[in-house]
Amino acid sequence: MTGAATRPPADGGHIERNRAAWDEYARDFVGLGEFAWADEEPTWGIWSVPEAELHVLPDNVEGLDAIELGCGTAYVSAWLARRGARPVGVDLSTEQLATARRLQAEHGLSFPLVEGNAEQVPLPDASFDLAISEYGACLWADPYLWVPEAARLLRPGGRLVFLTNSILLMLCTGEEADARAGERLARDYFCMHRFEWPDDDSVEFHLGWGDWVRLLRINGFSVEDYMEVRPGPDARMRAAFLEEIVSLDWARRWPCEEVWKARKDG
Ligand SMILES: C[S@@+](CC[C@H](N)C(=O)[O-])C[C@H]1O[C@@H](n2cnc3c(N)ncnc32)[C@H](O)[C@@H]1O
Repeated sequence: MTGAATRPPADGGHIERNRAAWDEYARDFVGLGEFAWADEEPTWGIWSVPEAELHVLPDNVEGLDAIELGCGTAYVSAWLARRGARPVGVDLSTEQLATARRLQAEHGLSFPLVEGNAEQVPLPDASFDLAISEYGACLWADPYLWVPEAARLLRPGGRLVFLTNSILLMLCTGEEADARAGERLARDYFCMHRFEWPDDDSVEFHLGWGDWVRLLRINGFSVEDYMEVRPGPDARMRAAFLEEIVSLDWARRWPCEEVWKARKDG
């Protein structure tokens, strides 16, 4: 056991670096945002797995106060709003939020968008029933900071749901610039936390299974589900650049994405 639930947070610097990176990447995510906003049925992750198959969202979100941590272009919040929830999107990047605001106007849908860090959200304690992140804070913020913050924001009984790269994918992806998931373990498992890449200034965070469970539990969550995403044999990637990460053949054999569902103890 690593005792990592009490491990000090990362050395800092990641917020400024990720804000700059995402203000830069934002232009490449405009098309994806437009596409996802136009989708009536939510689809998730690299392989656009339909909600009807994956069941990421709670069965009924009507009337829930929801916060999307690292909302990007805020299409997840849009899906929640159309299902009767009251979402608030939080994101670091001015440029991503500019796309989100434009899409809100185009789709005639309005909900609050807060420019800020999911590790320190300027909103009151116990004000949400659902905290959700799809490749947002759950990937780009330090889990030792954003998980306690999600716990603070949720009401007792509130749910935390997040989808990110699988632990196995990260273990099978080397540290070199053009690394793609291979068929062998390419890095150490113990002490997974902060990930950096030689060709990019952004910082990602990934934990091992035990560390995730302990971190959630120490912050008052019970883990309700852990779902490993398996795309169908004819699945198509959401965007061509994702081919740099993983192939369909790999993702059919091993999980390349995972969904955690936890509930804040009452
Ligand atoms: C891949 S997007 C995920 C959002 C959405 N699902 C999408 O694909 O557009 C990642 C987002 O996380 C945001 N982000 C990164 N670090 C963050 C932090 N500490 N707090 C809030 N947002 C953050 C980035 O600005 C970016 O918009």
